[in-house]
Amino acid sequence: MTPKILVLPGSNRSGSFNAALAAAAAVELAQQGADVTRISLADYPLPIVDENLKNQSGIPDNAMKLGRLIAAQDGVFLCCPEYNSSIPPLLKNMIDWVSLIAKDGERAVKPWAGRYVALGSASNGKFAGIRCLSHVRPVMMNVGAQVVSEQCSVGGAASAFGEDGRIIDERTQAMLTRACTSLITHCVMMNSR
Ligand SMILES: Cc1cc2nc3c(=O)[nH]c(=O)nc-3n(C[C@H](O)[C@H](O)[C@H](O)COP(=O)(O)O)c2cc1C
Repeated sequence: MTPKILVLPGSNRSGSFNAALAAAAAVELAQQGADVTRISLADYPLPIVDENLKNQSGIPDNAMKLGRLIAAQDGVFLCCPEYNSSIPPLLKNMIDWVSLIAKDGERAVKPWAGRYVALGSASNGKFAGIRCLSHVRPVMMNVGAQVVSEQCSVGGAASAFGEDGRIIDERTQAMLTRACTSLITHCVMMNSR
């Protein structure tokens, strides 16, 4: 079985390090045999999550589009910037909107539920965004995702990626390889049950 995996960077910044990590993860996942879709949240603008808005006009179209895309995957690779040691609003807002989806038409749907998720972070700082991942992990578990243990944090991100898009430091690239292998393995195991 070929696992379907969505790769999603939590930054729309031009020259984003997490977009670079997402590109490296997409290459690695594809090399390991996954059917990869890589998106940018810039293509899915969303208002700040707001229950009044949800009650008045429902889930925004872009959140429904993301929810359908996520629900159609076996796994998701999230690349997370670190803002003040935690989750940036762009990423948290998307996670929250998608978590509010309960149905699509008449069909019950919880896009995050049961989805396998691997985490990556990239920062030019020395902590490599790892403090953000310790916050993203319980959030994703709270929305029902299965977060794999292996993760990849890229420090010194301004000079971490080569011209071929791969991570230059071998140990860090090996972290990415392991996180991708774990995500694929869990997706395949889930489908063989
Ligand atoms: C509000 C704000 C807070 C930040 N806090 C942190 C932080 O706690 N740790 C860190 O490593 N970088 C921090 N940064 C720097 C980001 O890691 C940096 O902007 C990074 O490039 C964001 O990811 P991106 O390149 O994918 O956009 C912060 C940036 C902003 C805008």
